[in-house]
Amino acid sequence: ELGRVFEREGHELHLVGGPVRDAVLRRPVSDLDFTTGARPEATEAILRAHCSTVWTTGADFGTIGGMFRGEQVEVTTFRADAYDRVGRNPVVRYGDRLEDDLERRDFTVNAMAVSLPGHVFADPFGGIADIARRTIRTPASPESSFADDPLRMLRAARFAAQLGFDVEAPTLAAMRDLAPELSRITAERVRDEFVKLMLAPDPVAGLRLLVDTGLADRFLPELPALRMEIDEHAQHKDVYEHSLQVLRNAIGLETGGPDLLLRIAALLHDIGKPETKEVVAGGGVTFHHHDIAGARLARRRMRELRFPKADVQAVSLLISLHLRFYGYADGEEGGWTDSAVRRYVTDADGQLDRLNALVRSDCTTRNRRKAERLRRDYDAFEERIARLRAEEDLRAV
Ligand code: CTP
Repeated sequence: ELGRVFEREGHELHLVGGPVRDAVLRRPVSDLDFTTGARPEATEAILRAHCSTVWTTGADFGTIGGMFRGEQVEVTTFRADAYDRVGRNPVVRYGDRLEDDLERRDFTVNAMAVSLPGHVFADPFGGIADIARRTIRTPASPESSFADDPLRMLRAARFAAQLGFDVEAPTLAAMRDLAPELSRITAERVRDEFVKLMLAPDPVAGLRLLVDTGLADRFLPELPALRMEIDEHAQHKDVYEHSLQVLRNAIGLETGGPDLLLRIAALLHDIGKPETKEVVAGGGVTFHHHDIAGARLARRRMRELRFPKADVQAVSLLISLHLRFYGYADGEEGGWTDSAVRRYVTDADGQLDRLNALVRSDCTTRNRRKAERLRRDYDAFEERIARLRAEEDLRAV
């Protein structure tokens, strides 16, 4: 096996990171990540001699990949502590010792290794104990780890959501202190971690961490802003808690596995509320057209995070139309919303199902007057769209 191949060439090889963690947790192991003392050129030569395919896309970061006996493997040269604190991507310097490599990893649960070919287990930072305590903790000081790579703060929240672990207090404190550093990270890397968090079994736990530490303010400030909605009249539900609950409900309705766009829309469906909140004379609060405002805000954030266009559109649609389903969902209005929405959902692939799922998840009993008002809102919305279309047609002419 691969360990013997490297040994024959005089190099160490250790299985490391995610696969070791997942094996200990008895979760399915996906890719096999290795670390080695061999420099990338040497690794490439070895893999070329023993793998069916080899890829070098990660070579700048010391990683060479290949298919070894039908398994996808990635072999990365030991890292020494070296990050560019100004730049937006990690800068790499190679090291000579496994322990240094493990120390510069993000969390103790990811800093365990199995040395090959002898299968000797290395856990210098107490990863096993932290798994037993269900704790996320950095091997070195959390401040220096997060200053080296601020993305790790998002990864902490992501692992909390994936594994159901807590973040230990000093690591959490460092996340609070260093949250502003997240602005050094590219939108794509932030998006990828956010997506992994949203797809995890318990995104709510991860989202609470993002909000509580101030990390969410850096890329999705509309989410923490929802906390303002517990108002003096006490007639409006706490929109932040409500949104988390709707997300949980939406997850409960998924039949074909995690649905990222439904989850995002469920979480963000009320983000237009803070902006559209109005106190009416005589008490009470309204949020006119908050769904349209919310769709606009969601589009802006998702574009900033470089989500694909189609995803931005789907989430925007889900949010802008969600209210119109209440009557339908309550069965009070003979399905008028269903046919009306169908006219908008032309490129439907799954979107109508998503809408229905979202609505079922947010369905509360509404009285007829409310349904009537929503219908009037909806008609006004339709009129507006029709007017906009006419204007566009005119311009086109
Ligand atoms: N790693 C790190 N700091 C980062 C990213 C990654 O220290 N900012 C290390 C961790 O040891 C991690 C390993 O690199 O285990 C592989 O990273 P990645 O593939 O992103 O994460 P996994 O732990 O493998 O989890 P998953 O495959 O579920 O994303």
